[in-house]
Amino acid sequence: LSTFDTIIFEKKDKIAYVTLNRPQALNAYNTRMRDELYQALGAIKDDDEIQVAIFKGAGDKAFCAGADITEFLSAPSATVARQVRFERDVWGLFLSIPQPLIAAIHGFCLGSGIEIALCCDMRICSEDARFGLPEVGLGIIPAAGGTQTLPRTIGRGKALEMLLSGNLMEAEEAYRIGLVNRVVPKGEVIPAAEQLARKIMEQAPLAVRAAKQAVNRGLDMTLEQGLALERELAMPLMFSEDTREGLKAFKEGRKPEFGGK
Ligand code: COA
Repeated sequence: LSTFDTIIFEKKDKIAYVTLNRPQALNAYNTRMRDELYQALGAIKDDDEIQVAIFKGAGDKAFCAGADITEFLSAPSATVARQVRFERDVWGLFLSIPQPLIAAIHGFCLGSGIEIALCCDMRICSEDARFGLPEVGLGIIPAAGGTQTLPRTIGRGKALEMLLSGNLMEAEEAYRIGLVNRVVPKGEVIPAAEQLARKIMEQAPLAVRAAKQAVNRGLDMTLEQGLALERELAMPLMFSEDTREGLKAFKEGRKPEFGGK
C-alpha cells in the first residue's frame, strides 16, 4: 500500500496515517493525489483494525496549498480541470468513513486543503497554520464540498467571509470560530493528534462509530429525524459485548477491555 507517489499511507498501532506528500508544491492536490487518496480512504474504510486516521502534510510549510494550479493551466479550461479532478467522488467517500478522522494541520491550509480538513471530524493545528479559500480570486468556487462543509462547521457569516474575501486566517482566529478544535505549538501537532486518537481508542469502538454517525448524519436532518436516528443507533449498542464489558469494568474499578463486538 505504500507505493504511492503523492501520499504516504502508513498503519501503526491501529492508527492510519495519510501524509499529503508533495512538499515541493506545498502538497497541492492534483489528479494523482485524488486517485491515491481515493485508494487510501477505501483501505481505511475496509480495515476494521484501523480505529482512527490522521491526515497531515509533509514538509515544513504546508498541510496543503489547495488544488494544483499547474493542472488548471494545462487543461483546456479551469472547468475541464475541475471535472477531471472530481470525476471520482473522493469527498463522498471521505464523508462515508466510519472511523473518526483527525486533521493535523500546520502551515498553509488553503482551498482543497481546508476541504480535506473539513472532511475530517476533528482538526488540530499548530500556531503557524494559515487558512484561506482563494478560489473566488481565481474565478472559481470550492467544489470539494467546501461551500457546504465550511458553513456547517463555522456558521454562515464567517464561512461567507472566508469564501467571498479569500482572506487568510490565523490559527488563533480559526480556533476562536471553531474551525479547529485546538492550537498547539509548532512541531507538536502530530503528538497532539495522536494523543486525541489514543483517547478515542480507549473507548468502545462500536459506540465511537455510532456517535460519529449520529452527529454527522444527524446534522443534515430535522431534529425529529435526528432523534430517530439516535434511537436506531443506540439500541443495538445496549446488547453489545462492549457495553457488558464497560459496565463490568466500571463496577470492578478497572479499565475496560473492548473487543469491538
Ligand atoms: N498548485 C501548484 N503549485 C503550488 C501551489 C498550488 N496550489 N501552491 C504552491 N505551489 C508551488 C509554488 O508554485 C512553488 O513552486 P516552485 O518552487 O516550483 O516555484 C512552491 O509550491 C512553493 O510555493 P511559493 O509560492 O514559492 O511559496 P510562498 O511561501 O512564497 O507562498 C503561498 C505560499 C501558499 C501563499 C503561494 O504558494 C500560493 O498562493 N499558492 C497558491 C494557493 C492557491 O491559490 N490555492 C488554491 C487553488 S484553488
